[in-house]
Amino acid sequence: MRSSPRSASRRGPTASSSRARIPTAASSPGCTSRAGCGADRGARSPTSAPTRRGLAGLVLDDLAAGAAPIGHAGLAFDDAVDFDGWRRIDAVETAAAAPGRRRAKLRSVAAMRAAAADASIVLPEASESGGSGGGERVPVTILFGSESGGAELVADELARHLADRADVEVVDLADADPHGLDAARLHLVVCATYGDGEVPTTARPFVRALEEGDASLAGLRYAVLGMGDRSYARTYSRGSEIVDEALAARGATRIGEYGRHDASGPLDAGDVAREWADGVLAAEAAEAAVPAVAP
Ligand SMILES: Cc1cc2nc3c(=O)[nH]c(=O)nc-3n(C[C@H](O)[C@H](O)[C@H](O)COP(=O)(O)O)c2cc1C
Repeated sequence: MRSSPRSASRRGPTASSSRARIPTAASSPGCTSRAGCGADRGARSPTSAPTRRGLAGLVLDDLAAGAAPIGHAGLAFDDAVDFDGWRRIDAVETAAAAPGRRRAKLRSVAAMRAAAADASIVLPEASESGGSGGGERVPVTILFGSESGGAELVADELARHLADRADVEVVDLADADPHGLDAARLHLVVCATYGDGEVPTTARPFVRALEEGDASLAGLRYAVLGMGDRSYARTYSRGSEIVDEALAARGATRIGEYGRHDASGPLDAGDVAREWADGVLAAEAAEAAVPAVAP
């Protein structure tokens, strides 16, 4: 039996059961942004390019969120600026970023119009499809293990974050089968810890199937983000480690940083997850870029 990305409609306020492959940013399930939920300007990979609608939507979403009070003018502005105009705005905002920040938002329509019309801004080549230089979308499966919904929400956030550069599916570990894991896909494991350093209840059958079954996961690449609480000093994030160890024991290879989110700390889980995933995908891309050499 294959792992099954669920595609039923969402259930309840924490969106606890909608799981579907996300072929494009604009079609991300649960996405309410005009930008397409994967097109996060702030964290976009430097090698990926936004789609026209995605970039336009992102800028306008910023405005709608209060960056500039433009009301209906935003819609007219949306239609008035072409793709390269949006890319110039994006370039200006990126170039103006303070040290340690990814961008400084232009805060008025006038400033945006000026940037959009500034033909002196040299734009790198980009394609309407969202790729740059023919970059391919990475097939990614996000596996989440959750007891009270936090890891699932993070999985959803990651799916939206990655949708402009990856072909993403989200799978609950409750529905995953080790024999169904596809080595052609990068697996991002987001797993909470419960009890006394255990995996969430719903993830137990998956771990047991790994430990007691005969699945060979040679060639499967995965990364782990453990969600836990440091106040459980002895078992901090241990549930994710159990999944990690079980995957490795079946021959899978962990890549990138081992991410951890501390629920008792000040950092937002979504922020931690996005930064972690960006690092993992960068590591994956760097590995893919290394030419194979004969032994
Ligand atoms: C009853 C209970 C037991 C927990 N046990 C641990 C633990 O042993 N180690 C740990 O790091 N975190 C532990 N946590 C913290 C959770 O793993 C953390 O809050 C996580 O973000 C919850 O994710 P979820 O909402 O997806 O279940 C526990 C939380 C609860 C409520």
